[in-house]
Amino acid sequence: MDYQAILNVIEKELENFHPGGKVPDYIPELSSVSPDKFGMHLYGISGGHYCFGDSEEKFSIQSISKVFTLALAKKIGKKIWRRVDVEPSGDPFNSLTQLEKEKGIPRNPFINAGSLVVADILITHLENPKKDLLDFVRLITNDQSIEYDFAVAASEKKHGYRNIALVNYMKALGNIDNDVDEILDFYFHQCSISMSTKQLAKAFMIFANEGRILETNERVLKPNSVKRINAIMQTCGFYDEAGEFSFRVGLPGKSGVGGGIVALHPQQYSVAVWSPLLNEKGNSEKGMRALEELTTLTGLSIF
Ligand code: DON
Repeated sequence: MDYQAILNVIEKELENFHPGGKVPDYIPELSSVSPDKFGMHLYGISGGHYCFGDSEEKFSIQSISKVFTLALAKKIGKKIWRRVDVEPSGDPFNSLTQLEKEKGIPRNPFINAGSLVVADILITHLENPKKDLLDFVRLITNDQSIEYDFAVAASEKKHGYRNIALVNYMKALGNIDNDVDEILDFYFHQCSISMSTKQLAKAFMIFANEGRILETNERVLKPNSVKRINAIMQTCGFYDEAGEFSFRVGLPGKSGVGGGIVALHPQQYSVAVWSPLLNEKGNSEKGMRALEELTTLTGLSIF
């Protein structure tokens, strides 16, 4: 498969595709990103990588980090599924409505409520959770340059009313063990991690490669954990647009309000795309289009 030729076609086809939508402003620090950024990077299972555009520029990974924290919780062997379910929510990522009826158990680990519970689990079991998360992301990317963006974390902390409400509500319902401020601090930092599409595609190779790091072949996750995480990405990675993403793209993946999307084809490739303008569900409009083109042009999806 000539991935570079296919990426060149996608770049050309979308040259004049100007999505509607907007850059998020509820995290003020994100609102200054240029809406015209566009880049894509694909890593193949044999180690080759292919790209176009702004694929090496770092941006805020936001909710894509929820996959890393879930993977880290599985890596350290923690039990999660009594405290977070694995069902699609059909609701926006920051919704509070299901929690009351469902006794404070979030529908899945990729909505904000679910990721806050995963953060709580990590804080209970790790000595130095923020450092350990960064070390994990650096390990699977084989790249020590990955950092938190403290300005983004501080900006979200100042305006994070919904997340503050979510974690307090779950605490009241008995599904949070640690101090709520500690959990929020960890969560805002995980979301602030800055990475390029190249680094994201490389990191997500662990989910395409049965839990092994591509370059070193080191195993960081059991195949069974990878199967489960990929299944949750497929059914819950795009919130109330998970069905649409499955229908159009046909790959497990995860989006973030920084405009990034990462997706993967087990045993074939992982791919990341970045375009900051979001549709009303909070997913990158042009990013979804680019991935739809990729699975159409390659004729490869998991279905
Ligand atoms: O908690 C928030 O609202 C953000 N830090 C992350 C949300 C997000 O990325 C949703 N994804 N599409």
